[in-house]
Amino acid sequence: MQETFRLRKFEMQDLQKVMFINRACLPENYTDYFFLDLYRRFPESFIVAEQNGEIAGYIMCRIELGFSNFGFSGLIKKGHIVSIAVLPEFRRKGIAKALINRAMEGMKLYKAKQCFLEVRVSNVPAVNLYKSLGFQITKTIHGYYADGEDAYVMSKKL
Ligand SMILES: CC(C)(COP(=O)(O)OP(=O)(O)OC[C@H]1O[C@@H](n2cnc3c(N)ncnc32)[C@H](O)[C@@H]1OP(=O)(O)O)[C@@H](O)C(=O)NCCC(=O)NCCS
Repeated sequence: MQETFRLRKFEMQDLQKVMFINRACLPENYTDYFFLDLYRRFPESFIVAEQNGEIAGYIMCRIELGFSNFGFSGLIKKGHIVSIAVLPEFRRKGIAKALINRAMEGMKLYKAKQCFLEVRVSNVPAVNLYKSLGFQITKTIHGYYADGEDAYVMSKKL
């Protein structure tokens, strides 16, 4: 029977499947060291979604020190969504939304005050997803991606 999905923290044995999903869904790919380094440093915001024992999607994040994305402030901690993807057959079931909400709870444990990410300006599903969660476009970075496409920085207060 088809179960609904459940969320849990990433574990070492998920690495190959998460790297597979990353390569299947996004042009921005990383070494195994990169994934494991984020897991080691920020395990509370590296989350996977599982359905019927299979990993359907993941989110991984980094906590950074920087200036507010909403105007002047001193240095604050910000949660950076580095990568998120859901396999095509599991999309439009609320998995990405749930992954982001859970990762933002993790970011709060690290005392992050804001959450942000970069997204291709042409990535309508992702821009809509972030807007549906209350993220705002706070900046456009011209030529951010390797192929020259611009990125929106989208941000949300935690
Ligand atoms: C973007 C992505 C992660 C969304 O995953 P998902 O699990 O399907 O998203 P959800 O089901 O949680 O969608 C939540 C909301 O986002 C918006 N959304 C998601 N997919 C959309 C689409 N294809 N078209 C328009 N809006 C979309 C909708 O508002 C949706 O709510 P609704 O289904 O009630 O209308 C997924 O499409 C994906 O993996 N894409 C490739 C990788 C990628 O682009 N990652 C983001 C890089 S910044």
